[in-house]
Amino acid sequence: MKLNNHFLELKDSYLFSTVARKVREFQAANPDKKVYKLSIGDVTLPLAPAVIKAMHDAVEEQAHKETFRGYGPELGYDFLRSELVNYYGKRGVKLELDEIIVSDGAKSDLGNILDIIDPSNKVLIPDPVYPAYVDVNVMGGRKISTIAGNEANGFKPLPYDGLDADVIYICSPNNPTGAVYTKDELKKWVDFANSKNALIIFDAAYESFITDPTLPRSIFEIEGARTCAIEICSFSKIAGFTGTRCGYTVAPKELVFDGISVNALWNRRQSTKFNGTPYIVQRGAAAVFSDEGMKQIQENLQFYRDNAKIIKEGLNSVGVWSVGGENSPYVWARTPKGMKSWEFFDKLLNEYGVVCTPGAGFGENGEGYFRLTAFGDREVTKEAVKRVIELYK
Ligand code: MLT
Repeated sequence: MKLNNHFLELKDSYLFSTVARKVREFQAANPDKKVYKLSIGDVTLPLAPAVIKAMHDAVEEQAHKETFRGYGPELGYDFLRSELVNYYGKRGVKLELDEIIVSDGAKSDLGNILDIIDPSNKVLIPDPVYPAYVDVNVMGGRKISTIAGNEANGFKPLPYDGLDADVIYICSPNNPTGAVYTKDELKKWVDFANSKNALIIFDAAYESFITDPTLPRSIFEIEGARTCAIEICSFSKIAGFTGTRCGYTVAPKELVFDGISVNALWNRRQSTKFNGTPYIVQRGAAAVFSDEGMKQIQENLQFYRDNAKIIKEGLNSVGVWSVGGENSPYVWARTPKGMKSWEFFDKLLNEYGVVCTPGAGFGENGEGYFRLTAFGDREVTKEAVKRVIELYK
């Protein structure tokens, strides 16, 4: 018996596990010190009342023989998929119900999608990047190349002559940098992918943070995307489902490689290895799109946007270079005096009691940067920003 040796090529631990360990160690050594966490992008506001009510009602249904539901449709209930069709439709993106496949979250889909992609493909990943994209490909022993995000390109790398790829990961609004591609920029990726017969895996987890109507919230707002892209999205950031778990993948019918439909393979994969997202959770997710639910989640999103503004303005007040924080819950900033990311992380934690995410944890182009999240409590955010600014003085 042989285990999958590719796991040995992974870094010792996942970025956010390392950050959490360092914070635990600091707290154990300094039990009296308060720690201000703006690291992992985990939401802090409770689920919207409309979502809670829908889930309570669904629990009640499960209590009675007449309304009880066992296994659901593996690909998601139509009541949720039709809400998603409407949600996209409002932005001019026409989808069919069976182009949407509901799951237990974007992170699962981002990893599981590799089941339907041949290991011989050349995978192109931007750097810095959400570390899960890299790790799932390393686990599968895939050949990865990177494309650099940096200050010169606003952390929005674009295809160039001579670039080659079969599979391309794009996240916009970006995690970790908060940079957002314009329609023209995304069109360049779509044209590139179509010209190479490549697949774009578009991570739209942060689309709900976009308020600028000129910016694309879905890759399918871009002409030509239906023949080269899938979109993976989540209820975590739009509606605070990080602990509740629900997401979905959009696989258009026209997305066909060598005569094989991506939608059909993904359906086959999900029906075989997944028994569907819990009914109660899908009822909660569908309630996000009710008039009441939408209003309530917009209030929560605005709260986080205001946090992002506090972070951004604080950094601007001491002249720190940063990107993101507008149309995005993440702010990506340069460390002082060329300090290495982990050195900055340790100093910020040990001397100022603030937890950031070190840029180097997202790839080598993240060295010299750090990320702050707008998902924190208001008081924590204000105090953390005050302390970060101190470090620059
Ligand atoms: C992050 O902090 O990057 C996110 O919380 C990661 C995630 O959504 O899994």
